Amino acid sequence: MFHFQDLHSQMGDLRSHAEKLTTSLFGPMLNPDAEKGQSIPSDRDLTAEAMLMVGAGTDTTANALCVGAWMLLNDPGALENLNHELRTVMPDKDSPIDLTTLEGLPFLVS
Ligand code: HEM
Repeated sequence: MFHFQDLHSQMGDLRSHAEKLTTSLFGPMLNPDAEKGQSIPSDRDLTAEAMLMVGAGTDTTANALCVGAWMLLNDPGALENLNHELRTVMPDKDSPIDLTTLEGLPFLVS
């Protein structure tokens, strides 16, 4: 279960590791460019950004997966094609898989 109040309580941790956050959304926010007039957001604003990310990324992804599953179940040929293609890189359910490999599957990305 996801608790929004947990996000707020983690902001102190985030601040103490600010210089290491090079690839995180919070990196630029916690290392602002003063010459451009940027300043470090408050904990409340950082929490709001985190909540936005969770909110924007959750329903959209869930809906896309739901519609995709529905379309595949209504198109046995497409389901078979996808199944066949996925099995070439994932012969069994425990096969390791990475994003680059998945991005190389033409039917999946089409
Ligand atoms: C299938 C999944 C997703 C769909 C269909 C989707 C769709 C969209 C759409 C249509 C917009 C508006 C773009 C615009 O008006 O310029 C948008 C913006 C945004 N999305 Fe997504 N999104 C998805 C996944 C995600 C995920 C996983 C995240 C974050 C973890 C995310 C975060 C955002 C944010 C922060 C914006 C605002 C960007 C901005 O205005 O600068 N989205 N998304």
